[in-house]
Amino acid sequence: MCGIVGYTGTEPAVPVLLDGLARLEYRGYDSSGVALERGSRIDVVCETGKVARLAEALGVGGGAHEAACGIGHTRWATHGRPTQANAHPHTSCDGAVALVHNGIIENFAELRRELEAAGHAFRSDTDSEVIAHLVEESLVSLACVDAADDALADAEGRRTPHDGTAALAQGRPSILARAVHAAASRLIGSYAIAVVSTADPGVIVGMRKDSPLVAGLAADGAYLASDAIALIDHTRDVVIVEDGQLIELGATTLALFDASGSCLAPLEPSPVHIDWDAELTEKGGYSDFMLKEIHEQPRVIRDTLAGRLVGDSVHLDELALTREELNLLDRVYIIACGTSYHAGLIAKNLIETWAQLPCEVEVASEFRYRNPIVTPTTLVVAVSQSGETADTLAAMRDARIKGARVFGITNVVGSSVARESDGVIYTKANKEIAVASTKSFLGQVVSLTLVAMMLAQTRGKLTAGQVRLLFSELADTAEKVEAVLADATSVEAAAEACKDARSALFVGRGMGSAVACEGALKLKEISYLHAEAYPAGEMKHGPIALIDEGFPVIAIATMSPTYDKVLSNLQECKARGAKVIAIATEGDDEIARHADHVIAVPSVRDAFSAIVASVPLQLFARAIAVLRGCDVDQPRNLAKSVTVE
Ligand code: AGP
Repeated sequence: MCGIVGYTGTEPAVPVLLDGLARLEYRGYDSSGVALERGSRIDVVCETGKVARLAEALGVGGGAHEAACGIGHTRWATHGRPTQANAHPHTSCDGAVALVHNGIIENFAELRRELEAAGHAFRSDTDSEVIAHLVEESLVSLACVDAADDALADAEGRRTPHDGTAALAQGRPSILARAVHAAASRLIGSYAIAVVSTADPGVIVGMRKDSPLVAGLAADGAYLASDAIALIDHTRDVVIVEDGQLIELGATTLALFDASGSCLAPLEPSPVHIDWDAELTEKGGYSDFMLKEIHEQPRVIRDTLAGRLVGDSVHLDELALTREELNLLDRVYIIACGTSYHAGLIAKNLIETWAQLPCEVEVASEFRYRNPIVTPTTLVVAVSQSGETADTLAAMRDARIKGARVFGITNVVGSSVARESDGVIYTKANKEIAVASTKSFLGQVVSLTLVAMMLAQTRGKLTAGQVRLLFSELADTAEKVEAVLADATSVEAAAEACKDARSALFVGRGMGSAVACEGALKLKEISYLHAEAYPAGEMKHGPIALIDEGFPVIAIATMSPTYDKVLSNLQECKARGAKVIAIATEGDDEIARHADHVIAVPSVRDAFSAIVASVPLQLFARAIAVLRGCDVDQPRNLAKSVTVE
């Protein structure tokens, strides 16, 4: 959540920071701000609302801000309402330190009490502000230590450079870096921070624990951000700051330190090359990113499958388990949150049917706080688009402690899920900007389908011929999704019919039940229309009481072994006045008798029905959101990457 940017170099900082913030806005967007450091002073400008308002406040182009060093932040509120006072950057009492923070400081109340008792005055309700005051305290103590050191050095005829630029040139941390390191040692919780100070003009210090931070050096200066997307216009070679590391940026330098001990120990930065294209993040003619990303799904299916069938076998070499180890597995746990969890529900059906392995799917925030049965013969599959979801990461770590092998399925190269897994499969969705996941969901479903096939084949439950046939049908789904996307007329008609509803039910059985969960989540997220998903057979046990004249029931009624049962459930709904929207298989003549609106999808085997059936539901949710005048890409209260618990 939240976005951090920092720049120090030879160019004016304001346009660089605003551009970076705009790119990160999908992560959080209830307020934003910048701190501009100009030698002996730091100017802070904050605004509530989106980055565009901050840009107006800064009067970009007016040349009012000449600073070439600054930090910026776009916020997703955790502590304190989204007001100007709570917007970052936060400053120390003397205004000599400015800081932006992503994450949650769990012991902030205690630290705040202590700092207030020492005379610090707080201006916000945030947990983050304590860090600015802690850095201020550390700067004062370190300045005394350095003064004593300098006096001794003078007496001995040597010189110890304490100012940032000189210290950096010698590979030594600046006073600001040391102060941030000392302040961080007091923090409990998660953080990615960027700090500037008049104590070290032209220097930005970043540090992280459980919240992403990356940096890069370009010809015109050094850049820092919470996501590489804010850097790629400037450099493709990005240093990923790891937990317990501190990074110090000067206009022409970038120094990395191990900050896990009591002193800062220099490290050699090893940048990774980012090869995705910034243009991929542009809307490419679509009115919003969500629509563009929905339309990219055939490509995602093809790219995710490319090179995965070798001869007659599914190859997932990244998973690095031997045939013997795979055969010893006795249980699979899929842990994830939100949409990724729904991809897991779909995979459970496949893993149990094909590989005949018991498979549990669990919301990561629940998994981590109970005592699930996880042993060295359990395979844990962590699914996360962003690869930075705090709950999923914590659940993975617990599973590893219990001896399980952990596979990651993520969309982000070098993300925490990727780095902390025994093996990782990258979905080939490319950067997803819209907060509501669409293409990354399909990438996850396809990747998990491959995992199910691989497990089944290795364990002798599917023959080579069966795998070849399944793989070829899976590959065909790309074309079938294209067909769904080619004509959205029936989706639009259904959306028009439901746009004024106050609530909706999504129902299905088997695969359809998992698809219903995702359909309901999409609708809630972007249209703010209350929606619930139920297994169709459960309707009569309670939810049917909700149904009255015109109540929308969206049914996943594609051809499946339970198709007739779904029809019976729909009749029960219709008999009570429901407006039924059915996602059904092309050529199904029966369904029209049970539904007010039929959205036809091409015929696929039930195992792959989630792939074709979820696409019209994405379009349906988006169409309703547009009709209701909602911000499709940046729905209220949400963030793309949920890095807090
Ligand atoms: C999806 O539309 C949501 N924005 C959300 O549920 C998301 O899937 C969830 O937060 C998990 O994120 P992750 O896949 O990055 O771990």
